[in-house]
Amino acid sequence: MRTAIYPGSFDPVTVGHLDIIQRAAAQFDRLVVCVMYNSEKQGLFTTAERVDLIRRSLDGLDGVENVEVDHADGLLVDYARSRNASCVVKGLRRVADFEAEMQMADLNRQLGPGVDTLFLTARPDLAFISSTIVRELARYRVDLGGYVAGSIADDVAARMQQRLEEK
Ligand code: PNS
Repeated sequence: MRTAIYPGSFDPVTVGHLDIIQRAAAQFDRLVVCVMYNSEKQGLFTTAERVDLIRRSLDGLDGVENVEVDHADGLLVDYARSRNASCVVKGLRRVADFEAEMQMADLNRQLGPGVDTLFLTARPDLAFISSTIVRELARYRVDLGGYVAGSIADDVAARMQQRLEEK
């Protein structure tokens, strides 16, 4: 069985992520979407919430029957090995992503020989969408339809407003 891991912060999952998930799922027997910790990013949602938002976003989507959602602490390569995955999938939106993603891929190759990284380029019409953009839009109460799955748009908006009120 060919298993790939699609790791990320997913804070929250966007339609760009969902497109990568669908396309990667078509290339493997099993795709595990894994919420992981990025030490350079501050979170809006808890890990459990991010997992739940991904699951709800995938509900009813075509071509994701072989997709699992999980979360993990620790190194990505250790998690990949624990799931018998030989491949990590990453999305590339723009050239600006490339430098950092190359560095991570090289590091992961060093840390975990046998775990390779496969890059999928973003669909051009979705390439400008990121979790950061979604959080920014939510801050200014812009309708999130078209940026995240319709099923989670209200929850993402509400969480951002709650966070702003707490400050
Ligand atoms: O969506 P992101 O924030 O670009 O995802 C980055 C992520 C979470 C995949 C990366 O930070 C990661 O792999 N974290 C797990 C810890 C790890 O393995 N670090 C070494 C490789 S950078």
